[in-house]
Amino acid sequence: MFKRWKNLSEILLPEVEEFCNNYNEREGILKEIEELSQREKVPILLPTSAVFLRLIVDILKPKRVLEIGTGIGYSTLNIYFGYREAEITTVDSNRKRLEKAKEFFERAGAPVKTVLSDGLEYVRELLFRGETFDFIFVDSVKSEYPFFNYKVQPLIKEGGVALFDNVLFRGYVAGRDYDRKYERGVKLLKKFLKEVKEYPNFEATLIPVGDGLLFLKKLI
Ligand SMILES: C[S@@+](CC[C@H](N)C(=O)[O-])C[C@H]1O[C@@H](n2cnc3c(N)ncnc32)[C@H](O)[C@@H]1O
Repeated sequence: MFKRWKNLSEILLPEVEEFCNNYNEREGILKEIEELSQREKVPILLPTSAVFLRLIVDILKPKRVLEIGTGIGYSTLNIYFGYREAEITTVDSNRKRLEKAKEFFERAGAPVKTVLSDGLEYVRELLFRGETFDFIFVDSVKSEYPFFNYKVQPLIKEGGVALFDNVLFRGYVAGRDYDRKYERGVKLLKKFLKEVKEYPNFEATLIPVGDGLLFLKKLI
């Protein structure tokens, strides 16, 4: 079976990753979502990245959080468990997944605001309203990252952070051989990684966890 559906990364050694996954404790509901993801082949954040996400949120304690790409709510609940006081808004364009996520939020007692919309359109709306966030997590279509990046920047408060998932794309972005069908996606991710590095008032850090995370901090 393709590693993805075992919720394993393509860039970490599987035995090391499994050891970490067994070591790191997670709430029962998160384990349940991991099992559902494997059974029904619904993509979720890799558990190694989820643990990192939760830890970062726990440390930063962001007041206002925006997530783009709710899926079935696995990453959202990791954010919630990291800091239960956070005011979380999450957006996804897939109605069925969002409904499933809502069930999990309800069961976990997580007061999350869900929005059914295209992420870029919703971001435009937020910009128009002049809204800002302490923490933004982006886990949607990777080829859209360069576009999300421009739009998301003004939404980040000074000193705030945006975290983008899958930026190493199974290592293809870093030079690992890949099928030509991934060419466009790889090119766009490379463009994204180059651009974020060049912004003067941002600090970009690439973290080789899960499928690769890009930590983007807006400097004060
Ligand atoms: C990898 S899944 C998200 C997994 C989720 N973060 C989790 O850990 O459970 C990507 C999600 O992004 C959503 N998506 C993709 N492109 C989008 C867009 N332009 N606007 C909103 N949602 C989008 C998909 O419907 C899908 O549910």
